[in-house]
Amino acid sequence: MERNAAIPRHVAIVMDGNGRWAKKRFMPRFFGHKQGVDALVKTVLACADRGIDYLTVFAFSSENWKRPSEEVSGLMGLVLVAVAKYLTKLANDGVRIQIIGDRSQVSDKLRAAWEQAESSTRHNTRITLSVAFNYGGRWDVVQACRQAIRDGVTADQLDEAMLNRYMALSHAPDPDLFIRTGGEVRISNFLLWQAAYSELVFTDCLWPEFGEAELDAALAEYARRDRRFGGVKETAVPELARGA
Ligand code: FPP
Repeated sequence: MERNAAIPRHVAIVMDGNGRWAKKRFMPRFFGHKQGVDALVKTVLACADRGIDYLTVFAFSSENWKRPSEEVSGLMGLVLVAVAKYLTKLANDGVRIQIIGDRSQVSDKLRAAWEQAESSTRHNTRITLSVAFNYGGRWDVVQACRQAIRDGVTADQLDEAMLNRYMALSHAPDPDLFIRTGGEVRISNFLLWQAAYSELVFTDCLWPEFGEAELDAALAEYARRDRRFGGVKETAVPELARGA
């Protein structure tokens, strides 16, 4: 079946605003992250229903270690709870899970949970959910270069396509649509290489409140964009295009 070009193949999301959402309710920040997991599960399935093939989300950045230690350990623990609570459902719903990021600094328990999530969903094809955890866009470029050097790739052999094979998202096409919730208007070191031509959509909606209506609004905005990838639109001035 032919894809509808107005629907992005790959959506990336910076899920920002959990802390503020909780604060507004006089609750601890952790409560916001917990609600954030529920919003994520709903969003994955909503994306799959709309024919989106890849969803990549920023769950923990290389810089998030700077947060208070109880918040960091809370987020780590939340991953274990989320895997235990939702893995079977996501697996049964056809979601393939991939984790991107530096696994060397996380606990053995967390690494094992990630491996379980990846291995038990590896044959699924409905949608690929890539969870960026202990991830940073600059880290990604550096780890890719290091791995290429270790593999003996020479300077002459190294081009964009070659480096891309070593990037953490080599299993996915570049994101077409990049959404950030929570009102901030920045990329925050997420997918720096891969988002070169992504359409950016920023919304004030706090992540725990993100749902189908906000997703559809972002998709409608995407459908209105004119993607040129640095070129020009040939049909923009038809008389000139015909040599008139
Ligand atoms: C940003 O909100 C959010 C995060 C740093 C964490 C996002 C994580 C989740 C939604 C949970 C994902 C968990 C799994 C298992 C994949 P913030 O804390 O910066 O909010 P604020 O800007 O309002 O303070």
